[in-house]
This record gives sequence, C-alpha cells and structure tokens, in this order.
Amino acid sequence: MKFIDEIKRRRTFGIISHPDAGKTTLTEKLLLFGGAIQEAGAVKSNKIKKGATSDFMEIERQRGISVATSVLAFEYKGIKINILDTPGHKDFAEDTFRTLTAVDSVIVVIDVAKGVEEQTEKLVSVCRMRNIPMIVFINKLDREGKDAFELLDEIEQKLGLKVTPLSFPIGMGYDFKGIYNLWENNINLFSGDSRKNIVETIQVSDLASTELDELIGDTAAETLREELELVQGIYPKFDKEAYQSGTLQPAFFGSALNNFGVRELLDCFISIAPTPRPKESDTRIVAPDEKDFTGFVFKIHANMDPKHRDRLAFIKIVSGTFERNVSYLHTRHKKKLKFSSPNAFFAEKKEIVDISYPGDIVGLHDTGNFKIGDTLTTGELLNYKGIPSFSPEHFRYINNADPMKSKQLAKGIDQLMDEGVAQLFTLELNGRKVIGTVGALQYEVIQYRLEHEYGAKCIYENLNVHKACWIQTSDTDSDEFKDFKRVKSKFLAKDKRGQLVFFADSSFSLQMTQQKYPSITFHLTSEF
Ligand code: G4P
Repeated sequence: MKFIDEIKRRRTFGIISHPDAGKTTLTEKLLLFGGAIQEAGAVKSNKIKKGATSDFMEIERQRGISVATSVLAFEYKGIKINILDTPGHKDFAEDTFRTLTAVDSVIVVIDVAKGVEEQTEKLVSVCRMRNIPMIVFINKLDREGKDAFELLDEIEQKLGLKVTPLSFPIGMGYDFKGIYNLWENNINLFSGDSRKNIVETIQVSDLASTELDELIGDTAAETLREELELVQGIYPKFDKEAYQSGTLQPAFFGSALNNFGVRELLDCFISIAPTPRPKESDTRIVAPDEKDFTGFVFKIHANMDPKHRDRLAFIKIVSGTFERNVSYLHTRHKKKLKFSSPNAFFAEKKEIVDISYPGDIVGLHDTGNFKIGDTLTTGELLNYKGIPSFSPEHFRYINNADPMKSKQLAKGIDQLMDEGVAQLFTLELNGRKVIGTVGALQYEVIQYRLEHEYGAKCIYENLNVHKACWIQTSDTDSDEFKDFKRVKSKFLAKDKRGQLVFFADSSFSLQMTQQKYPSITFHLTSEF
C-alpha cells in the first residue's frame, strides 16, 4: 500500500470520561467489532476499584495492566484504529493530559444518569483548548437517566460544547425501545441481547409511515416524531469540517454494556474522524505526509521488574515512516539512536515491527535516554511543542532518609520525574527539593518505587503551597522584576527545565502578588 494510503486509513484517538461512565466497556466492544478480542471481559479495567483494601497496592496492580492497555490497536473495515489509554482517575489526570497531545480526536463517554461529572469537565476543557475533534457517547440508556434534551443542554452548558445528536433514544431505562440513527436514517431495536443487537437494524425510509407505529407502538412513534422534529429545529446540521475543527460535536446514545449503539458510533467514527493531523514544532508545522520521520515521546512506562530498570518510551509518529534498525536523531541530546526492537501494539499484545506510519504509536526500549516531550527525527533539528506541565495540587519537601544512598536517591528521583510521575522543583533560596503531584497517592508510589527500584529511602515534609505558577516577564532587568525576586525569594523555585516558578501559598496571595507586579504574568502551565 502507498505511504499516503497508510496515513489515510489511520485513526488515533482516546476515550475520555469520569470513572465508571463506561470507558472500559466501550473500549472492549470496539475491540470486539475489530475482531481483536473474542469475548467480553477481555479488556482489564485499569481503574482503581472503589473500596480496595489499599489504594496503593491497587496502583501497582493498575500499573501492570496499564502497560497492556496503553495502546489498543485494531482494524475495522480496512481502517487501522489506535485507541490510546487515558486514565480517568483524578490522580492520573496529568498522564491523561499528556496522552491527549498524541490523539487526533476523542470520544467523550457520559453516563446518562449522572450527566457531566468533574473529570469529564477537566478533560474536555483540555481538548477544547487544543481544538481536538470530539464525539459524545451518552451511555447506559438501558437505565433510567436524564431526559435526552436536558442532558444535551447540560453538556453544552457545562462542557462548553456545541452538540448535534446523530442518534436519538426511543424511551429510556425500563421503556428503552431502541435508537433512531439520524446518520444512517434507520432504527435499531433494543432487545437486551447483545448478540442480536449487532445485526438488528431496520431501515426506516419514511418517518410518517405507519411502519414506525408497528415497530415501536403508537405512543412511542408519536413521541419520536415530535422529538426528531425538535432535534432538527434546535440543533445545527452535522458538518464534518466544523466537527474536525473542534467547533461542533456530534452525539450518540447507546448502551456499551449491551453493545447497543456502538456499531453506529464506530461506523460514523471511521468516516468522520480525522486522519493523523499536522503538528506544530518550535520551528514549523510538520505535515504527516512528509517523507522524513518525526515523532515525540508522550509517555514513559517503567518496567514492572525492578531488577531490569528498562523502560518503554511511547512515541507518536507525526510524519514519515519509523523503521527498525535505522538511526534517528534524539534532538535534545543531539545524538543518533537506533532501535532493534520497536514494539507495535495490537489489541493487548505488543510485537516487534519493521515499519510504522503517522498516527501509529511505537514503544521503544529505553535505558534512560528519553523524557516526556522528547523529539526524534530523521535528522532535522526540531522539537515538538504542546506537552506542558500543569501546576501540581500537592507539594512536599523530599528528604534523604539514608545518607549512604544519596546517589541512588538522586538517580531515582531523576528517572521518576522523566517518566512524569511527579514534578521536581528546587528552591532558589536554599536548594531544597520539592515534589509536586496531582494526587496525594503519588507520594506513596514514589516512596515505594525509590525503595524497590533504586534502593533509596526518602521522607517527606509538609509544605504549604497552593499553586505553582510559571513566571513570564518581558524585562528581567526591570526594577519591578528585581523587587519581585527580592521580596518573594522564599517562594521562588526552578522546575526541572530551569524555568522560574513562583509558589503561591493561597489564591489570595497569588492575587495580591499579581496586583503588585502587573508586568509579570503568572501561568498555571509551563508552556505559554
Ligand atoms: P470506566 O472504564 O469508565 O470506569 O467504566 P467501566 O466500563 O468499567 O463501567 C463502569 C460500570 O458501568 C461497570 O459496572 C459496567 O459494567 C457498567 N456499564 C458500562 N456500560 C453500561 C451500560 O450501558 N449499561 C449499564 N447498565 N451498565 C453499564 P460495575 O458493576 O462497576 O463493574 P463490573 O463488575 O460490571 O465490571
């Protein structure tokens, strides 16, 4: 197949949701359609189970599973689909933010009863900022939930989206009869038997005909006619360009558990979802069909075996082809590297591949060369942008608890930070190290991994910080900036890249500081 056709047949996306909305179930049904797995229950949920004996042991278990589910690839109707795993748990939000830099589109799963939840809001706002095309899947229609119009309204209000339904439910919960598909103009009747649901599609050429009444009963038919009329009156007509540019979001209804409405979603997805998109670098925008290979690291996964400290770096291919045993330039180190066993992902297996195309993800074995955000190219010196750090939510001093192991501790911290487990800051005043994390659980993970993988011991000490703000000023020689540095010296630190960061101890003090130093901008992310 020609290079260009390989690009055209790729769709790389992520499924985002609040935990429990049905992401794992939907992923599994999609894989079943692709024939990538044979039975339900094959995709292991990597979420942290509620009420687990120890959340921390759950994280370790989850880490094992998430290697397997990092990338799930399958073929459907000649299309190569790559699903990138995006943890829903809030303590892993930063992982998900980074993965969202490697997707070309997303599917947002919403629980029909719970509506828009906290994590959905956060993740969708990141996608909106980047104009990532989104399809909404409203799940669990076999249960009682919110009225469809009300829910669509809530999605628009809370998520700031502009939706247009491409399918519409007929009843709900106990009365759930099926779905009218506006994309294909047909009806799917719900029988609660997931096998049957895959095949039972009834073409409805004329909504006014009595055929509809016979299928779903007079009352339901009348309601459906009215509702569809309303849909047409209220919502904009679907427009592929608007969807692809992130200004319009089609919505589907269904029940992932019952495999209902999933095929419709998938069929529409492969026809409208974008093929690999161009990406901005520090020097220029790179198009996927360029001959020379470029790609970037969006995730690093440490091996579960503490005796072998090797890691798997996940590279998203942006342009050209990535080939086995060919040297590529690591642009941060300015050194050439060659990979003899790049992994490609297929369902839950990984295997060595000779060639990969834009949109694909390859996993490269790494002994410490990579950190998140690194760029690989055929030879051009460019760096991909768009993997910012976000301000952590928790901050603690990290201290060495075993003076004989300070080297091991430094190395361990360094590598865990490269993996993106947490962020390290060094205070300007006294050089003390501060670890910032999104979730409090990460501190236990770090302590455990430092001990088991690096033989180092650490203890933490509390530190009162509300937010870390990256500082921007046009004139570092100005009196105002000098005054700021002098007055706030206790609250200044450098991040791992050497960027200056201000630790605000409350939102009030941040506000006051902003007012006092108007020429300085305080950013909550490291890229601005
Ligand atoms: P997540 O990955 O988004 O966290 O959600 P997951 O797919 O694990 O689904 C969360 C729960 O919701 C699961 O039940 C799952 O079976 C259920 N679920 C998913 N889709 C539907 C649906 O369409 N209808 C109904 N009624 N339930 C659905 P659980 O009891 O928490 O887990 P399990 O014991 O079934 O695995």
